[in-house]
Amino acid sequence: MIKITEGPLPTTLEYAALGKGELASRIAAKKAELGAVILGHNYQRTEIQDVSDYLGDSLGLSQEAAETDADVIVFCGVHFMAETAKVLSPEKTVLMPDLRAGCPMADFVTAEALKRLVNEHPGAAVVTYVNSTARVKAMSDICCTSSNAVQVVESIPEERPIIFVPDRNLARYVQEKTGRENIIAWDGYCYVHDDMVLEELDKARADYPHAVVVVHPEARQDLLEQADFVTSTAGMVSLAEEHDALIIGTERGLVDRLKQRFPEKTLIPLSGAAICGNMKLNTLAKLAWCLDHEKHEVTLDDRVQEGAERALRRMLDLSGGWRPPTGEEEALELAGVRPSGCGCG
Ligand code: 13P
Ligand code: SF4
Repeated sequence: MIKITEGPLPTTLEYAALGKGELASRIAAKKAELGAVILGHNYQRTEIQDVSDYLGDSLGLSQEAAETDADVIVFCGVHFMAETAKVLSPEKTVLMPDLRAGCPMADFVTAEALKRLVNEHPGAAVVTYVNSTARVKAMSDICCTSSNAVQVVESIPEERPIIFVPDRNLARYVQEKTGRENIIAWDGYCYVHDDMVLEELDKARADYPHAVVVVHPEARQDLLEQADFVTSTAGMVSLAEEHDALIIGTERGLVDRLKQRFPEKTLIPLSGAAICGNMKLNTLAKLAWCLDHEKHEVTLDDRVQEGAERALRRMLDLSGGWRPPTGEEEALELAGVRPSGCGCG
C-alpha cells in the first residue's frame, strides 16, 4: 500500500525523496484534477514515458498538442517542443517540469542572425526545423520535422532558393533526397547525433551482422550512407515493431524504452554515449512538483505566436491530418492506459 503525503511540497527535493509509486499516484490525481494531459518525447526517461498519455516524435507531439481537449498540457521534452504546443494551443496552459531543458541545436540560430541571412538572399523561402525557437519559427515560411522535411522542401517551387535552419545534417540529407542544389544550410547541429561515428556503427555491425540499421537524419552523412533506414524517432518505433534485430542510431532513451517493450528482440544502441542531457533534466519528481505547483508555465508574445503558428500550420496541413495510431498506442488504449482519439492533426 503506497502512503500518500497530502498537499504540495515546497521544492523538487522533497519530491525526489518520495518513492516512484507515490509520485505516480500524485501525478495521476493532480492530472485528473487539472484536466491535464502529459505529452512525452521518445527520449524521456522511461519513468516519465510510463506516465505519459502520449509519446511520440516532434511531429506526432505537435499534432497531439494541436488537437487535445485537455485544459493543461504538461510537456516532458525540451523547450522548443513546449513552445510549439503553446503556439498550436494558445488558449491552453502549457507547463514544463524544468525550464532549463533546452535544445542546443535550437540555440544555434537567433531571429536576428536569421534576418541577416534572409536579407542576403531576398526571395528565398525559409524552411525551419522544429528544433528552433518560436521567434525563429515566426520568421519562417514553413516548419518541418525529421519525418516530413523532404516533403516540405518538395512543396516549394524548384527554382526558389531555400534557407534551411538550423540543422546542417538534415539540410544535407534533404538536399540529397530532393536533388535540389539551391539549399542554403545553417551550420547548426545536434551534439548527440553529430557525435556518433562510423567506428561505432562498424563495431555494432560486426557484433550483430544480421541487424537492420536505422539512423536519425540529424546524424552525419557517412553514417546515413551506411543505414538501411533513415527516419524520425516515431519511424524507429515502427521499425522496432517490424524487425527482430535493429541497430538504432539515436538517443539512448528511445532504445532503453524499446528494449523494455520488446525484451525478446535484439535492439542495440549505435552509440552508448548518445544521451541528450537536456531531455534527461525532466524527472518524475519534477513532473509531480510541476503539476502540484502548476509551474513552469510557457508563455509567448502575441506577434511571435501568430507568426510561428502560420509556419507550423502550413507544415501540419502538408503532413496530412489524421494519422493512424501505432501498434503501441492501440495496445495502451485497449489496456485503458491512455485516452482514445489521439492522432488527429
Ligand atoms: P524526432 O522528431 O525524430 O523525435 O526528433 C526530435 C529530436 O530532438 C531529435 O534529436
Ligand atoms: Fe536537441 Fe539533439 Fe537533444 Fe534532440 S537530441 S533535443 S536535437 S540536443
